[in-house]
Amino acid sequence: MKSAVFLSLATAVAARLFNGSHSNFPRVDGFKFNIDGKTEYFRGTNAYWLPFLAKSEDIDLTLDHMAEANLKVVRVWGFNDVGSIPTKGTVWFQSFITGSEPVINTGPDGLQKLDYVIDAAEKRGIKLIIPFVNNWEDYGGMAQYVRHYGGSLPSEWYGSEPAQVQYRKYIKAVISRRINSSAIFAWELANEPRCQGCNTTVIAEWAAKTSKYIKSLDPHHMVAAGDEGFGIAGGDGATPYLSVDGGDFKALVEIPDIDFGTFHLYPDHWGIDAAWGNTWIQNHAKACIAAKKPCVFEEYGMMDTDKCPTLEGWQRLSSQTPGMAGDMYWQYGDKLSIGDTADDKFTIYRNSPNWKCGTGKRASAQ
Ligand SMILES: *[C@@H]1O[C@H](CO)[C@@H](O)[C@H](O)[C@H]1NC(C)=O
Ligand SMILES: *[C@@H]1O[C@H](CO)[C@@H](O)[C@H](O)[C@H]1NC(C)=O
Ligand SMILES: *[C@@H]1O[C@H](CO)[C@@H](O)[C@H](O)[C@H]1NC(C)=O
Repeated sequence: MKSAVFLSLATAVAARLFNGSHSNFPRVDGFKFNIDGKTEYFRGTNAYWLPFLAKSEDIDLTLDHMAEANLKVVRVWGFNDVGSIPTKGTVWFQSFITGSEPVINTGPDGLQKLDYVIDAAEKRGIKLIIPFVNNWEDYGGMAQYVRHYGGSLPSEWYGSEPAQVQYRKYIKAVISRRINSSAIFAWELANEPRCQGCNTTVIAEWAAKTSKYIKSLDPHHMVAAGDEGFGIAGGDGATPYLSVDGGDFKALVEIPDIDFGTFHLYPDHWGIDAAWGNTWIQNHAKACIAAKKPCVFEEYGMMDTDKCPTLEGWQRLSSQTPGMAGDMYWQYGDKLSIGDTADDKFTIYRNSPNWKCGTGKRASAQ
């Protein structure tokens, strides 16, 4: 009995390590996700800065705290595109130095940092969403590529063949390092892809092509677009419902190689009020059901000092709405050896008064 149990345990461990098995990868299960054998609504957060921390101890401490709070899925930046090489010890992933070929940094202050985060997450049963490029100029973004290849507008990125070739090269470099990791929840095309003044076909065609490429490299991990959910029917005509900046939520979630829908919510930035967010959540859930895929409420936040009344309302609604599979607040904060992590007024620091609505102590999830 004892030895039989021992043997089957050993076999299970061997299968995980050597089999190239993907049976333990997160996957869609109806309108929810199966994570490590359990299908249920998940709670998560965003901590874009995690791979940029210089000290491994800080990465470990953050992930320990997240695991303790039962934050199951965490979104971190999988890009850091620089125009010049920073001082030693500062993390960067890809450089675009004028006059030379872009360089993908596979060193200890490069993709090895991301490897460390993925491995450390794996040890704690935490799953990661990893986007490959930023819409915004923080950490380089599409603008960094465009400047390098002689363009001027970030929207030119989608149609620039050399930029797309380099982007795919970068995607391949990242994916191939941790293609067998059960800590990857999903690869993501971009953070908040927008294309100012563009037909919605521009982003949709890029998303179809890129998601297909990712699946050709790694058919067993999920892929998402990382969009804000703009351009969706059913609303009150407020700007986010319009196809501003080339967004078309339905077109994106219906792409065959996209596994789930993503949307964000920022009343402070969007000129709408907190209550407006309720129908925003419900309309995306409906569109996801129509596309037969789950929806993730991937970023949301309020600048208010007292964030919980609003956040708890959204969280409760999201967890109770068919089609919704999880939510991830923006953003996680902690006290590390370097002091407090980034404060953008949305940050919810561990053990602060708002902590209860960020984490496991929040109002009933189900
Ligand atoms: C490899 O993984 C598959 C899928 O879970 C499983 O069916 C198979 O038995 C595993 N093979 C070995 C040798 O453990
Ligand atoms: C992933 O697993 C496959 C199958 O076992 C193996 O051939 C490959 O080298 C592994 N890749 C990495 C990056 O670990
Ligand atoms: C967008 O492109 C499609 C396909 O080329 C075209 O049918 C449609 O009219 C365009 N929309 C706008 C607003 O230009």
